[in-house]
Amino acid sequence: MGERLVGKVGVVTGGASGIGLATARRFVGEGARLVLGDRNAELLAEIGAELGESVATEVIDVTVEADVERLVARAVDGFGGLDVAVNCAGLGAFSPIAEHPADDWRTVIDVCLTGVFLSVKHEAQAMRAAGRGGAIVNIASINARVPAEGMSAYCCAKAAVEMLTKCAAMELGPYGVRVSGIGPGFVDTPLTAFTQVVPAIREAYVASTPLGRAGQPDDIADAALFLVSDEGRWVSGDTLFVDGASMLKSYPELHRIAGG
Ligand code: NAI
Repeated sequence: MGERLVGKVGVVTGGASGIGLATARRFVGEGARLVLGDRNAELLAEIGAELGESVATEVIDVTVEADVERLVARAVDGFGGLDVAVNCAGLGAFSPIAEHPADDWRTVIDVCLTGVFLSVKHEAQAMRAAGRGGAIVNIASINARVPAEGMSAYCCAKAAVEMLTKCAAMELGPYGVRVSGIGPGFVDTPLTAFTQVVPAIREAYVASTPLGRAGQPDDIADAALFLVSDEGRWVSGDTLFVDGASMLKSYPELHRIAGG
């Protein structure tokens, strides 16, 4: 527990699970008040009950602009502004390009890229209007830079999020709004729970991580805290890869391990 975000108001998309949930707990522990947005109403209700008065929740789909507007408005109207934002909502799809259903491709690009765009758009409007600066963090992935067979839509979306972060940092810097990215390596969350079913995949991820373990959601939440807090005041436009150095090694051949 600390006081680095006392008096700050934030939004976290994908805040009901995994990295977003850990970030919400970490930020509230530092004094922030948050509006958590997620499409999972059940999990949102649980985290809302756990964190009490420090959080409000909104069931949203980040691909629906009116939902994202509602999330940001809840922070501004309910808590008096918007100082920090972490855009976490995401999902993946596995398919070779030659067989990739176009609908699955669109879903991944919609959630992982357009959802981040819509979030930054409305967060930026609120921060600009209040005139007190702000800090936005977009959750990308090591797959922004490291290609993975069978994950083309996800890799393309995450690469674009890294570029979106740079463009937004240029446009919003003059308003005192910093925009940064985080590129996590393999992190144990519900998104990667499938690796419990195929342990060889998890083992391959860990084997390709020089620091010798899978990441935990708190590893990413701590990096997000640094980026939005005053310690990160001269950081903007960059994506910080929090990955146990796994980008230095080759990406696991998931399709081969899974027998595909
Ligand atoms: P998670 O599955 O635990 O959490 C993702 C959350 O996003 C869920 O609560 C889900 O309901 C929500 N969500 C999905 N689509 C949504 C939509 N359209 N609208 C609103 N909410 C939506 O997954 P995790 O691992 O915490 O992922 C968070 C972010 O971190 C994602 O962007 C993911 O791509 C990224 N990431 C995760 C890695 C990992 O190894 N877990 C590695 C690199 C990046």
